[in-house]
Amino acid sequence: MSADRLTLAVQKKGRLFEGSEELLKRAGVKLAYARDALLRRSENMPLDIMFIRDDDIPNFVASGACDYGIVGENVLYELAERSQRVAGLEVALKLGFARCKLKLAAPKDGPIARVEDLAGKTIATSYPGLTRKFLQERGVDAEIIEMGGSVEVAPRMNIADAICDLVSTGATLEANGLVAFETVLESEAVLIRGPKAAVNGAAETAELLIDRFQGVIASRQ
Ligand code: PRP
Ligand code: ZN
Ligand code: MG
Repeated sequence: MSADRLTLAVQKKGRLFEGSEELLKRAGVKLAYARDALLRRSENMPLDIMFIRDDDIPNFVASGACDYGIVGENVLYELAERSQRVAGLEVALKLGFARCKLKLAAPKDGPIARVEDLAGKTIATSYPGLTRKFLQERGVDAEIIEMGGSVEVAPRMNIADAICDLVSTGATLEANGLVAFETVLESEAVLIRGPKAAVNGAAETAELLIDRFQGVIASRQ
C-alpha cells in the first residue's frame, strides 16, 4: 500500500456492511464507483477502502496489509483466541452499530436450561475459542463441535445438544425452537488499529477520520 494513503478494511457483505457504509457516508467519505471491486479509492481523501470478509479483517490489520478495520467484537475476540497478533490489536473506537450477543441456547423444554446442564454435552458453534474459554471459566466440561454456519439446525439434526451463536432479533432461535439461557459476549462494531497505522504518512488522515466518526456517533445519541 502507498505510504501516504490510509487503508481501511470493511466487510464486503453481511451484518456490518450497511452500518459501515453509512458511517463512511456520514463522515463525508466519497468513494469512486467501482462495481464489485476489492479496493475502492476515496475521491476526496487520501483513503482506500478494502472490501473483504469480516473474518479476514483482523488478520489484514494485524499484518499491516490495512491500517484500520471495521469489524464486530465477536469476530475480533474469537480470532484473538487463536492469534497473538490479533490479540494485540488496539480498539481505536467503539462504533455503536451491529449490536448482537453471542449466546448459549438449547431446545425449548429440553434438559438443558443453564450452563451447568452442559456438562458432558455437545455444543455446536462457529465461535469455538470464545465458547471454550467461557466453559473453562465456568468449570464446565462439554464437547465443542465447530460449524461454519447454520448452527441453529444442529440440535434438530442431532448434531449437538446445544448451540452457541449470535443473536440479534432472536428470530432465528425462535424459528428453530431454541431458547437462550446465557450470554457469552456482547458485541458491536469497532474500529481496530494496526501496529504501523500511527507512524505511517497517513496518520493525519486517520486522525481526521476518527474525529469525524466520533462526530457521527455523538450525533446519533
Ligand atoms: C447470525 C446467527 C443467526 C442470526 C441471528 O448469522 O448465526 O443465524 O445471525 O440473528 P437473529 O437473532 O436476528 O435471527 P449471521 O447473519 O451472522 O450469518 P452466518 O450465520 O452466516 O454467520
Ligand atoms: Zn463472517
Ligand atoms: Mg446465520
